[in-house]
Amino acid sequence: MKEKLVSFLVCPDCKHSLNLATADWDGQEIVRGELRCTSCSAMFPIVRGIPRFVSTDAYVKNFSFQWNTHRTTQVDSLAGHAESGNTFRTKTGLNDAELNGKLVLDVGVGTGRFMEVANNLGAEVIGIDLSYAVDAAYVNMGRRAGVHVVQADVFRLPFRSETFDVIYSIGVLHHTPSTGKAFACLPHLLKRTGIVAIWVYVEAGEYSRRLDRVRTLTVHIPRFPLYTICWIIVPLLQTMARMPGLGQLALHVPVSNQGRGLVWDVLDTFDAYSPRYQWKHTEAEVVDWFKDANLEDIRVLNFPVSVRGRKPHT
Ligand SMILES: C[S@@+](CC[C@H](N)C(=O)[O-])C[C@H]1O[C@@H](n2cnc3c(N)ncnc32)[C@H](O)[C@@H]1O
Ligand SMILES: [Zn+2]
Repeated sequence: MKEKLVSFLVCPDCKHSLNLATADWDGQEIVRGELRCTSCSAMFPIVRGIPRFVSTDAYVKNFSFQWNTHRTTQVDSLAGHAESGNTFRTKTGLNDAELNGKLVLDVGVGTGRFMEVANNLGAEVIGIDLSYAVDAAYVNMGRRAGVHVVQADVFRLPFRSETFDVIYSIGVLHHTPSTGKAFACLPHLLKRTGIVAIWVYVEAGEYSRRLDRVRTLTVHIPRFPLYTICWIIVPLLQTMARMPGLGQLALHVPVSNQGRGLVWDVLDTFDAYSPRYQWKHTEAEVVDWFKDANLEDIRVLNFPVSVRGRKPHT
């Protein structure tokens, strides 16, 4: 981590500032050390270059596994595509002017693929995640200028109110115990006129019901066997789906088929079947959360369910 990050962080419990108590450096990066609260004496270790505000990856062990196994698959610069840049624009609607020179929070950073996009557009980005995906994000992006990685829970974030110009969260909040409550943790962190943009899973009728029926079984399968099963069933069911007579049968176990190659589809299928929590939402429900938070200029984007809003000036 960079020393500058200390100035953005506070104790997640008492909200007082933190001191860098000990630090081992590697160039400009603090690779190991300790942050200490100036008020309540809580201590937070810096491990492998990342300040840690949680002691475990709790219910997101699947994501720790998934993002360290697929550290580069979805990262534009490392995989040689532009998918994440396109996804970022589609799901947040954020443009260059809204990001350039701004302080941005990426909630549920995963491998850091969207941090790369925002940072390339001139933003200083802090990415947080509950899982050890942060280690993948740090390897991918952590040493870049204007990029910071923090392991923290969205329900217990180590930041002061009114810190960020922009907050985005893409495909994350529905993987917490309560999507709406997780969202409610974000608006107070925005500066006045700051923007928050989220994308959460849409309630998609029969498709969602099929997915959830299979998930009642798959969430109990340990990570590695489930991942291995994905490598077998994804190509099998994709083939079956194209065969007369078998196509209807294949629909009962939805697998990803995004046209971005087998590795991406296996990753996506594991991503669908492994998370403990995976809520689905309607546009109306998400818009209500934005209204409840007194946000204005609420816009529903074309890709369901992507919504953004702005904190009022006063
Ligand atoms: C499907 S991944 C999306 C990652 C990234 N936004 C992307 O699209 O590549 C969901 C992420 O949310 C994180 N997550 C789930 N619950 C969280 C929580 N309570 N606090 C912070 N991150 C959380 C997971 O660890 C995981 O990395
Ligand atoms: Zn404290």
